[in-house]
Amino acid sequence: MHISHSGDDLSTTLDQWRERGDTIAFVPTMGNLHAGHIKLVREARATGGRVVVSIFVNPTQFGVGEDYASYPRTRERDLEQLADAGADLVFLPEVAEIYPEKDRELADVDLGGLDRILCGANRPGHFQGVATVVSILFALVRPDVAIFGRKDFQQYRVIQRLVETFGLPIRLIAVETEREPDGLAMSSRNSYLDAEQRGQAACLSQVLAKICDRLRQGHKDYRAMEKYAIERLNNDGFSVDYVSIRDSDDLSEAGEKTTKLVALAAASLGTTRLIDNMEVEL
Ligand code: PAF
Repeated sequence: MHISHSGDDLSTTLDQWRERGDTIAFVPTMGNLHAGHIKLVREARATGGRVVVSIFVNPTQFGVGEDYASYPRTRERDLEQLADAGADLVFLPEVAEIYPEKDRELADVDLGGLDRILCGANRPGHFQGVATVVSILFALVRPDVAIFGRKDFQQYRVIQRLVETFGLPIRLIAVETEREPDGLAMSSRNSYLDAEQRGQAACLSQVLAKICDRLRQGHKDYRAMEKYAIERLNNDGFSVDYVSIRDSDDLSEAGEKTTKLVALAAASLGTTRLIDNMEVEL
C-alpha cells in the first residue's frame, strides 16, 4: 500500500496507474476508521479500480467550539485496517497541502440552500467546509468513482449537488449505514460516549425505525411522528437538535404526495452529537 503525503507524489503515482488503464475509486475520510469506513473501501474495491483513501481532519468543516482539536487521530491503526481491506494508496496531507494560502477567504459554493437546513442550521459553515475540501480532494485525486456513506445523508446530497453544479465526471456511490448490533449507526464520534450514554444511544435508531414503520403503513401525520420521536429522545436523556421527515431526493419538507422519504435526526448525549437517518420508499 502506497502512502502519499503530498499532492505531487499522489499525482505521480496516480498518473502511472492511469497510463496503465486503471480507474480510480476514491474514499475520502477523516480517519479513526471503523467497520463503516471499511465497507466503503470494500465497495471501492468492487469497482475493480485502484482504491485511494484520504485521511484528513478538515478544519474548515468544524465550527467554533466543535471538536477539531480533539477529533480522534488514530493513524497507525487506520493504516493497518486499510492495508487489510486492500487499499492501494492512502493520501495523508497536512493542512498546508490542502489549504496552502492560510489567510485566503474561501469562496462559498452554491449548494442551493442544502447547506443551511437540518444539520446546516445548527452548524453554520459546516457543509461549505465539506464542499470545499471535497472539491480540493477531487481536484487532486481526479477519481472516476467516489464512495460515501449514507449515514451522512445530507452530506451525500451536498456532494451530489457539487458534482452536478461543476459537471464533474465522477460517479458517486452511496453505501448503506453500518450499524452496531443494537442498531446504533457506526460513527467515529461514538468513541466519545461513556458507558451510560452508549446504552442510551441506540434510542436514536429505534425512534427512526418506528417512524419508518408508520410511514410504510401509510401514515402521513409527519409533525406528530416527529413530535413523538423528540419526546422519546428527550425522555431517554438526549438533547434533540431535530427530527425531520423529508423528501429524500432534495431534502424538502415531505408532503402528502412524497413517495421517497427519509427520516433524519440529530441529537446529543452530553457533548456528543449523533446523527442518523432511515429511508422509506412507498
Ligand atoms: O464524512 C467525512 O468523513 C468528511 O465529512 C469528509 C467527506 C471526508 C470531508 O472531510
